[in-house]
Amino acid sequence: MRIGYFVICCCILFTSAAFSQTEDLPQDYLPAGFHAARRDSLRSMMPPNSVTMVLAYPVRNFSNDVDYEYHPNPDLYYFTGYKEPHSLLLIFKEPQTAADGSTYKELFFVQQRNAAAEQWTGKRLGVEGVKEKLKIAQAFNGGDFKNFPIDLSRFSQIIFDRFPEGPPDPSAGSADLFNLIQQFKQKAGINDSTIKDKSYNLSLYRTLTARLREVKTEEELDLLRKAVEISCNGQVEVMKAIRPDMSEREIQGLHEFVHKKYGAEHWGYPSIVGAGNNGCVLHYIENDKLHVANRMVLMDVGAEYHGYTADVTRTVPANGKFTAEQKLIYELVYEAQEAAFRLCKEGAKWADLDRVSRGLIADGLLKLGIISKKEDVRKYYPHGLGHHIGLDVHDRSMYGDLKKNMVITIEPGIYIPENSPCDKKWWGIAVRIEDDVLIREKDYELLSGNAPRKAADIEKLVAEKSIFDNYHLPPLKSGKKGF
Ligand code: GLY
Ligand code: MN
Repeated sequence: MRIGYFVICCCILFTSAAFSQTEDLPQDYLPAGFHAARRDSLRSMMPPNSVTMVLAYPVRNFSNDVDYEYHPNPDLYYFTGYKEPHSLLLIFKEPQTAADGSTYKELFFVQQRNAAAEQWTGKRLGVEGVKEKLKIAQAFNGGDFKNFPIDLSRFSQIIFDRFPEGPPDPSAGSADLFNLIQQFKQKAGINDSTIKDKSYNLSLYRTLTARLREVKTEEELDLLRKAVEISCNGQVEVMKAIRPDMSEREIQGLHEFVHKKYGAEHWGYPSIVGAGNNGCVLHYIENDKLHVANRMVLMDVGAEYHGYTADVTRTVPANGKFTAEQKLIYELVYEAQEAAFRLCKEGAKWADLDRVSRGLIADGLLKLGIISKKEDVRKYYPHGLGHHIGLDVHDRSMYGDLKKNMVITIEPGIYIPENSPCDKKWWGIAVRIEDDVLIREKDYELLSGNAPRKAADIEKLVAEKSIFDNYHLPPLKSGKKGF
């Protein structure tokens, strides 16, 4: 009895110590050292006597007093780990000398702590938090930027991205993002017309950040793998749960529930769940069909975990069985994807991957009599083969030859909208299969392989029982009928 009590006390003490030590928060964020190394890498690529300026994204209004959930500028997050608005980062090529003789190589102006504002919109890191948690020593309140003794006009090149547009936000005070932009322009001696000058080469910013971000570090791969695994688990659970009486939105909700259950903060792009003909709209996000019925459902849904997003699409017959026509189209997309996979390795060219897989689809559509000349393949396969993923779902890249540790999607598709000029038995068939691929020196790793892709494996999984089979909510009593 006494021992039992002692053990329980120890457990409580241990658990609460563990919670208070870690604040019961995720422990797998990118470390400060990652962000510092990314700043150093940028610095090493910058031309002599240059400075790079990175801004926070603006806050955007959703409805009256309510803003959209804030999403940081991926570049600013990449270089600092900071996730708040109203901030400005300067990275210098060479160390700069302060008035007291000390040197610095970056300056970071961040949101000031403000108890009243924090009661409404949550805790801010503030200067001390940035120094302590993000290990950026040269951190200042945004309000200090205006009179900070730095003449940016004396640099040979000032590297920055397009400015966001918008009016100042009165609630953010004098260190609002748009004030910071005005102060930056003043210090740099530029205005909207001189920005177009060649000395302010906006594309250099895009080039440098693309070259950096297109090749992932091990820390980034850890997070990407997690985002992809979470998204695939979502696809698997939904395949088991899907039924013809479900709505597109309910299916969307099941995916997003699984993502949240695994701790993913957001979707990486609005979830696309399109039944039948709705799948022909490439970025269909209304998701408002009430019953997917016996249609195929195209589900392009990716979780964002600590900033990194997956991008995985599966196309599934809601009743568990592909029709003959659906299967023919599905197999064609599958073969095109396999053909592209086989070319994936360091040195491969996007153009080759695209040519081979698009050629297969064109031949297949010709054979099925859906098109009468190969060039018409674009009509039913109107998008590119894939893209990089990372902090953006369409991540920064120069789209040159593939390199080791790039992560890309391979996502062929065929979409045959109703009233297309072909036999009506094909109408309303939309198939996309999208996977996330890590490029290696001699081959590739299929990161999203644990969500079935083969038609027979999908049919098998749809027939399985689901944890969602037996949940029942009470019917709604209020409002007009219509749901
Ligand atoms: N998943 C959406 C896209 O790649 O465009
Ligand atoms: Mn994609």
